[in-house]
Amino acid sequence: MECQYCHQDIADKAYQTHLGVCSERPKEAEAALLTDQNVGSHSVAPMLENEGMEVFYPTSDPYFLVSENVIEALKVTEAISRKHPANLLITGRPGGGKTTLAIEFAARFNRPAVVIDFGVLQEPQQLFQTTRLIQGSGDSMLTDVRESGFVKGLETKDCVVVMDEINRPENERVLNVLMPLLDGRRNAWIEDLRRRVYVADNVIFVATLNEGSLFCGITSIDLALRDRFREVFLDYLPVESEAKVLEVKTGIPRIIASSLAEFACAVRNTPVISKKISTRQLLYAAEAYSEGTPLWEAVSTAIGSSNDLGWRQQVLEIFSLNIKDETEYEKWINKPRELRYVQY
Ligand SMILES: Nc1ncnc2c1ncn2[C@@H]1O[C@H](COP(=O)(O)OP(=O)(O)OP(=O)(O)O)[C@@H](O)[C@H]1O
Ligand SMILES: [Mg+2]
Repeated sequence: MECQYCHQDIADKAYQTHLGVCSERPKEAEAALLTDQNVGSHSVAPMLENEGMEVFYPTSDPYFLVSENVIEALKVTEAISRKHPANLLITGRPGGGKTTLAIEFAARFNRPAVVIDFGVLQEPQQLFQTTRLIQGSGDSMLTDVRESGFVKGLETKDCVVVMDEINRPENERVLNVLMPLLDGRRNAWIEDLRRRVYVADNVIFVATLNEGSLFCGITSIDLALRDRFREVFLDYLPVESEAKVLEVKTGIPRIIASSLAEFACAVRNTPVISKKISTRQLLYAAEAYSEGTPLWEAVSTAIGSSNDLGWRQQVLEIFSLNIKDETEYEKWINKPRELRYVQY
């Protein structure tokens, strides 16, 4: 088919893709395709892929606590990135602030950021292009294909490109295309875009991952890929600090925040319990408590894993030993043995 903009002959299969990235495509055409008005006027709701992949300036979390050695590692990485390419891998505990730290890194250094959720990537192409369904279906489907936030991010000077859960793409080929972008070459020919992309000055790639036998849906990341990153490990917060985070972020009383933090710490320090309690779970419990849920119920719901009864029993036992507030302890003692069912 002949392209309506550059008049090149394009293979049928690649026609829609080409339209989205054709360098001759007028800007007005782009704008016209994407106004809310015209999307809304079609019978089919617009579908977005990788909708969140946009470059933005993150705001800082005013109460994010992190150890001094992690801060030092971030500072050094930032400084090095101004001399030569630097990539950072954040590993650590599940629900322990890895993604937040990656975004926080951009916020603290006043850099733009883009966050790519690798868990949703099925094909390498999705890393480089986003597709929006404008209207229709099957052969008459009209789509708008454009370069992704990942491409915009890596071509934006100073950008922090967050590759969240880098070991979770459905297809490992997604990782292979990263290799030349992450080493000294810092450029790669991207067939889908039919052009070479160049990583802009001072761009930092920050990857996060969870690893270990407790996680499913992950792939092991290749040693050569891992070797391209400086690595920083994010451990659980110490009790005092974690209690402070819960108190400040949810407004719960200090005594309750301490009970929660000490409970989590006790579980984490019990070697026979392999599934630990995360900061995220504690925040869920604290938020529910601040909304008026009794503490025992807030914790019981926040820890989840309803089908792992042995684990729940063990963990809730530890929780009961750490309730410092007398009223809440009373409520724990008198908690109903069975659920009551009422009309909703
Ligand atoms: N050190 C911390 N200080 C303040 N808040 C924290 C800290 N660690 C975690 N949180 C809070 O806990 C929640 C979970 O954090 P986040 O999603 O960044 O964890 P994660 O390690 O990326 O989790 P996952 O392993 O599921 O990817 C967020 O609301 C975050 O603000
Ligand atoms: Mg995360």
